[in-house]
Amino acid sequence: MKSILDVRKLNVKFLSQGRRLHAVRGIDFSMYEGETLGIVGESGCGKSATAKALMQLVPRYTSEISGSVDYQGENLLTFSESQMQSVRGKEIGMIFQDPMTSLNPTTRIGPQITEGILRHFPKISKKEARQIAIDTLTQVGIPQAEEKFECYPHTLSGGMRQRAMIALALACKPKILLADEPTTALDVTVQAQILDLLQFIQGETKTSILLITHDMSVVAKMCDRVIVMYAGQIVESGSTDEIFTSPKHPYTQRLLTSIPRMNQPKDHPLIPIEGTPPNLSYPSQGCAFCARCHDAMNICSKDQPPLIEISSDHYTACFKYDPRMK
Ligand SMILES: Nc1ncnc2c1ncn2[C@@H]1O[C@H](COP(=O)(O)OP(=O)(O)O)[C@@H](O)[C@H]1O
Ligand SMILES: [Mg+2]
Repeated sequence: MKSILDVRKLNVKFLSQGRRLHAVRGIDFSMYEGETLGIVGESGCGKSATAKALMQLVPRYTSEISGSVDYQGENLLTFSESQMQSVRGKEIGMIFQDPMTSLNPTTRIGPQITEGILRHFPKISKKEARQIAIDTLTQVGIPQAEEKFECYPHTLSGGMRQRAMIALALACKPKILLADEPTTALDVTVQAQILDLLQFIQGETKTSILLITHDMSVVAKMCDRVIVMYAGQIVESGSTDEIFTSPKHPYTQRLLTSIPRMNQPKDHPLIPIEGTPPNLSYPSQGCAFCARCHDAMNICSKDQPPLIEISSDHYTACFKYDPRMK
């Protein structure tokens, strides 16, 4: 499989209240063409910081990014703001949890979409851009797209706004779509519709999707592969099938026992993961999950676990699988 995005040694640090908070701690991953790759983990583990760093959308003066993000032979982290503006929207589209963070409340939906098309494709006429916008609104399932073109975002329902934001992200036909908790704010029925829509769009356009979620059931439905993050690091990665049938990292195992399943008895307890993640303002000695881990050994509080290959494309960072421990 050909990779479309290669992230290497990505670090994100925020300067906050006189402290340096190390939110993303040297992560490596690749995205393949046409796949849906999930990033999953509890709130605060660095998922959004990762997505924002790829697009250089972290606050300029209070954050530091290092590492590399290779896209089409170039490292996006070396790009200037104006170079990034030609990447955002055109090469890499973004959708977020709250549509109001991407939709401008004071501008009608249609012109927001045509503006991006006209900026990225100067040869397209206004009339053509309008047609592309209407077609894209139709494609994302907005009925009477021509009328909705003229509406302000606040006049649409939550689900329709989310669809409009997806249309905005897709209008320039990006090769990659970053979707950061795209359905978290929606009720379950609308959530299912939006996930179906993303699946449909991927089938049609072969866009690669990076889907960020804290919800394992969203991963199960949507993703080909999954990365599990904990405290700014990748603790496990592999195909969704393998992660669900044979999770290796104790954190992944606990994430999976904490999701409800259709076929489990009604009184089956959902087991929350007790304890809290470590404070990212401090460096962690040893494995960051150690304090919450039922399987922790002496070494786990002292050394950082290496990444162990379980099978091809299935990796975990846990001493339990380190051949030297046997
Ligand atoms: N702009 C920021 N300034 C300071 N700290 C931040 C900023 N954005 C995120 N953080 C911190 O970085 C850590 C990771 O946050 P985030 O990537 O948003 O987590 P997630 O998306 O996994 O819930 C958290 O501790 C969060 O408080
Ligand atoms: Mg987030």
